[in-house]
Amino acid sequence: MSNTPFPDGFLWGGATAANQIEGAYDEDGKGLSVQDVMPRGISGPRTERPTPDNLKLVGIDHYHRYAEDIALFAEMGFGVYRFSIAWSRIFPNGDETEPNEAGLAFYDRVLDELERHGIEPLVTISHYETPLHLAEQYGGWTNRALIGFYERYARTLFERYGSRVKYWLTFNEINSLLHAPFMSGGIPIPEGGVPTGELYQAMHHELVASARATRIAREVAPAAQVGCMVLSMPIYPLTPSPADAVAVMDADHGNLVYGDVHTRGEYPGYFLRRLREQGISLDITDEDRADLKNTVDFVSFSYYMSIAETADPTKRAAGEGNIMGGVPNPTLPASEWGWQIDPVGLRLVLNQFWDRWQKPLFIVENGLGARDRLVEVDGEKTVVDDYRIAYLNDHLVQVGEALEDGVDVLGYTSWGCIDIVSASTAQLSKRYGFIYVDRNDDGSGTLDRYRKKSFHWYADVIRTNGASL
Ligand code: BG6
Repeated sequence: MSNTPFPDGFLWGGATAANQIEGAYDEDGKGLSVQDVMPRGISGPRTERPTPDNLKLVGIDHYHRYAEDIALFAEMGFGVYRFSIAWSRIFPNGDETEPNEAGLAFYDRVLDELERHGIEPLVTISHYETPLHLAEQYGGWTNRALIGFYERYARTLFERYGSRVKYWLTFNEINSLLHAPFMSGGIPIPEGGVPTGELYQAMHHELVASARATRIAREVAPAAQVGCMVLSMPIYPLTPSPADAVAVMDADHGNLVYGDVHTRGEYPGYFLRRLREQGISLDITDEDRADLKNTVDFVSFSYYMSIAETADPTKRAAGEGNIMGGVPNPTLPASEWGWQIDPVGLRLVLNQFWDRWQKPLFIVENGLGARDRLVEVDGEKTVVDDYRIAYLNDHLVQVGEALEDGVDVLGYTSWGCIDIVSASTAQLSKRYGFIYVDRNDDGSGTLDRYRKKSFHWYADVIRTNGASL
């Protein structure tokens, strides 16, 4: 293909997560997950049991419409589709010894459909959907027992799907654990918050579990490529002062430690210093240390926005940036949800990760959450989402720049390629898709699917391997 920095074989596609699309929250033996009791997203209350106002219980009914959805992905020319497996479909409580066959069979059917269309699957093993029982009875990932439960779950997946799935991700946005303990780690949050030491212990358990999954994949599914997945967020100093530069370095370290451990197999010095200075001593066994040596094949990440940081406490109004902290950058526009739009940040993060880890990178989430309006054009219902096209186009141009810089990028899966329920706010009106789903925040709607303008735009991008950008 002429005039494109994207290499032959670059994997273009889209991404979703089970809890945000499938619905069918209690069908075919599925157990409850933490998402089934979070009707308002990250910062809302958690309910005792599922309540009808929780949009995820039905999602976009992908559980029953997966074939139709995958056919639409194929129509856009997807070469890859990232989805997650709902842990509580396979092990309803999380601590059983035998998997639920009906749950496994559902993903067989999804894989059949992908194969039929020649779409490569990219599977997230755990995407913010820890079985609720593990949260309630074990305290989620603060409990070392979860390593064993996850190990059994991962082994089951590798044994069942290992010959059909090449690309695997162990934990979605593993670095969000400290910021969203219940959603990310199934950790119940007491009044006053979870003590930092417990959060770091939970982080350690997840890192060991991730490394063990990599080790098991090597044994059971030798062709598998296992990656970690981190939330990426370039951080700029609010001013050129050295103190702000150090604030950036510290904040950056808080995120980079996860990739450092996944790619180097041990904790970096700056993290050990952080533990020392906070008086935290982690329970790390010799076996853990050996397990961590099972490093990943590639690094995947989400990218939505950048933030700024400062050492000046008067400029750090709490929560002003986003879930990862930080302060707003005065030079950047923001989405309706306050997420700052920064295409150049994607080039920076690609270069930073490549320079630091020298592992192939996979952009597995990127996109714009926006309100859409369904209109009729030439007798067809659609959404004229030029704002989404502009966002994605600008970001992909920067991926092209990074490729020119020599960064090794395996592929790009835009987030929420079909409209889904938002993770942070649990809304359907925060839409990311190329495909509009007729379902509203009050639960009304036909669930019919419509192609947006961006659907045709993305099909062109894929067909031309990026030359149309
Ligand atoms: C990432 C998550 O944080 O961002 C997804 O991996 C999530 O699950 C996505 O949906 C976008 O966030 P939101 O809150 O707009 O859905």
